[in-house]
Amino acid sequence: MELNRRTVLAGAAAAGVAAGTLGGTAQAAPAHHRRGGRPVREPFGTLADGTRVHRWSLENGGTRLHVLSYGGIVQSLEIPDRHGRYADVALGFDNLDDYVSSSPYFGALIGRYGNRIGGGRFTLDGTTYQLSVNDGDNSLHGGAKGFDKRVWDVEPFTEGPDTGLHLHYTSADGEMGYPGTLRAKVTYTLTRHGEWHITYEATTDKATVVNLTSHVYWNLGGEGSGTVEDHELAIAASRYTPTDTGLIPTGERARVAGTPFDFRRAKPVGRDLRAGHEQQVRAKGYDHNWVLDKGVTETPEHVATLREPRSGRTLRIATDQPGLQFYSGNFLDGTLTGTGGRTYRQGDALCLETQHFPDSPNHPDFPSTVLRPGETYRTTTVHSFGA
Ligand code: BGC
Repeated sequence: MELNRRTVLAGAAAAGVAAGTLGGTAQAAPAHHRRGGRPVREPFGTLADGTRVHRWSLENGGTRLHVLSYGGIVQSLEIPDRHGRYADVALGFDNLDDYVSSSPYFGALIGRYGNRIGGGRFTLDGTTYQLSVNDGDNSLHGGAKGFDKRVWDVEPFTEGPDTGLHLHYTSADGEMGYPGTLRAKVTYTLTRHGEWHITYEATTDKATVVNLTSHVYWNLGGEGSGTVEDHELAIAASRYTPTDTGLIPTGERARVAGTPFDFRRAKPVGRDLRAGHEQQVRAKGYDHNWVLDKGVTETPEHVATLREPRSGRTLRIATDQPGLQFYSGNFLDGTLTGTGGRTYRQGDALCLETQHFPDSPNHPDFPSTVLRPGETYRTTTVHSFGA
């Protein structure tokens, strides 16, 4: 179990690097985009403490990505439809202030622990740790100032046909209540096929828990284009983890069969969204962890497909992780205005977060999220696009 998290760095081959030529795009693009060349940097704003934030632009194989050094945020992700027309399919903002003041984790890197830890507390090797609590009594997405609100060191690279960014952040021992200095490195790679790979790596100097993920809000019709209820979604999972009223897993792994949670065959997100299932009422929609049938795997395996019927745009997700949080944008409430100047309302996007199960540190029978000195946490998620 969990071999992928324990692989030593030296022995781990870079994921999915194929030989070939540099990628290009069907449509005219800014000069720095055209040939899958080196990522380009521009200023995006300045934080209250004077820290400058940059936006990096990269393109390869027809996919265009804009990434901020603040939170490792994917500020936009553009892909073509079946006619070659591009749209930004990730919700976001056009300015830094909105990200700092009011972002519900749009496009961000999440750490040290993705999703909730019940009571903001866990016990490891006999010591109980109290975490930063920011969601009722619970700790959500790493606490009040998680990895999504930190400035990452960004280092661009081109490697054969691939282009990408290495993002580094060191989380101090005790930050947000977590034990151990955690050195995190996240690599965003765009391949010549336009795939977006995320590889997360981390080491620690004390036993700790870690569960990193990415919080892109997808709307394959384009951000600001309205509801995603027509998107067809398939998830390769026969079970999910039901939650209590605070959205903490009860510990049960319930069958999806015969419930609105059954996405084993693709169906529109909206089809069973109003089915009145107690779990949906509690979460105001879907906001649950699906227990992926494949379990923890050495390499990424296909787990979910999302398709927008009008544009034909398709997203396929592969991961080595055991869980997938499908969140149907329940808390978007029309108070945020996005990148293109349109308001985001409930259900205008959805998140598919590859992860370990929420609250694992308090559930010994869930796959372990413990990382010890000498081990390297390493996990990869691959996003493939089509139309
Ligand atoms: C969680 C939601 C939460 C959202 C924050 C998701 O990952 O599952 O409960 O509201 O993040 O925007």
